[in-house]
Amino acid sequence: MDLPPPRRPDAPYSVALVCLGNICRSPMAHVVLQDRVEAAGLAPRVLLRSAGTAGWHVGRPMDRRAAATLTAAGYDASRHRAHQLSADDAQDSDLVLAMDSSNLADLAALAPDGETRSRLRRFRDFDPEGPGDVPDPYYGDESGFDEVLAMVERTADALVRRLAAGWASA
Ligand code: 4NP
Repeated sequence: MDLPPPRRPDAPYSVALVCLGNICRSPMAHVVLQDRVEAAGLAPRVLLRSAGTAGWHVGRPMDRRAAATLTAAGYDASRHRAHQLSADDAQDSDLVLAMDSSNLADLAALAPDGETRSRLRRFRDFDPEGPGDVPDPYYGDESGFDEVLAMVERTADALVRRLAAGWASA
């Protein structure tokens, strides 16, 4: 899957991670990808944000099961507060990663222009085990959160390798 080029070559590369509620999947992806970006020394050049297409949980911390799964794996889940994606947020991003196909369809409807639509991808388009949806764990049991973490970790590793390689290899 190609990586869209930066909108402004002199600015940090801005990546938005998007799910429905911004309390489970995209916050988990945000925390893990931030960890990988920092470990790769890319932190000044890659800016991350996460958001939901829906606004139901705006201002709240992540789901306690998502936070517990991250904490048990050694990540800091405490700083997240839910945010709803605006059209401006999408227009300000170089790459917008939807957690599932339904989020992707919602993003396509929200995107204000074709340039922004061309920057939409599914997060798992970069999964080395193949593309697909990150399943919504909200209505399931705890095991769903472990499954999300495993998908997010391997995809974040692959995505950071792509970001480190730059756009010539896209
Ligand atoms: P997320 O999960 O999109 O991964 O944050 C959900 C969170 C909340 C709801 C649905 C999915 N909800 O219906 O409130």
